[in-house]
Amino acid sequence: IKKLEQIYSGKAKTLYKTNDPTKLISEFRDSLTAFNGGKKSEAPKKGYYNAQISRKIFEMLEENGIKTHYVNMASDVDMVVDVVEIVKLEVIVRNIAAGSITKKYPMPPGKVFERPIVAFDYKSDEYQDPMINEDIAYALDVATFEEMAEIKKTALKINELLKSYFEKNGFLLPDFKLEFGRRGPNKEIVLADEISCDTCRIWDKETKQSLDKDVFRFDKGDPSKTYEIVARKLVPEIFN
Ligand code: C5P
Repeated sequence: IKKLEQIYSGKAKTLYKTNDPTKLISEFRDSLTAFNGGKKSEAPKKGYYNAQISRKIFEMLEENGIKTHYVNMASDVDMVVDVVEIVKLEVIVRNIAAGSITKKYPMPPGKVFERPIVAFDYKSDEYQDPMINEDIAYALDVATFEEMAEIKKTALKINELLKSYFEKNGFLLPDFKLEFGRRGPNKEIVLADEISCDTCRIWDKETKQSLDKDVFRFDKGDPSKTYEIVARKLVPEIFN
């Protein structure tokens, strides 16, 4: 597959056309941003670790019956993905209270939820990703009720798979963000974007130490070294 012209550059990844009209290449970069782009930096190898962690997780999910946009890797940091029409939602799944939810509601940090929480944010830099529900999503033409139901069901299934996968590797998974897309003429809903240290809260099971983008957000450590700790557990094969 050949990488052709750039079509979009986001905060951490750049999308390229390819010689196959049904495939794109998503290049994972070393740039780090937080607080809606208000804080910016670079971390060596961060793109590499996130690309490999994401690849491994997409493979694990596919093996367990979850449809994703992942095809294969064209290089260490170049992920070949199916062309999809992105659903303009950030789907947030929470198992333990952390981050924004502890600021908006009386939820003490670290509280373990009896059942996972699924919330939807409208993906919009201009409106700063406000929380929406099925009715607002429909009114905004973001997704149909059927799609919202399928997205929620799939997000909960992904949560069960991810939680046990992370626990097996010595990590807790307080929360994470998913994005979905519509693939092909039938517009089937598939998991898109990435699942990595940038999009998940990952804690050491014993010490509860943050092993994710919170180390960058709150200057709690070196992002490259932190992401490497997670990569060594989830993708040991790249360190041989
Ligand atoms: O900021 P907040 O606590 O709501 O984030 C919840 C989870 O979603 C975190 O794991 C965070 O990394 C992820 N997230 C994301 N992209 C966003 C917003 C949140 O990956 N734009």
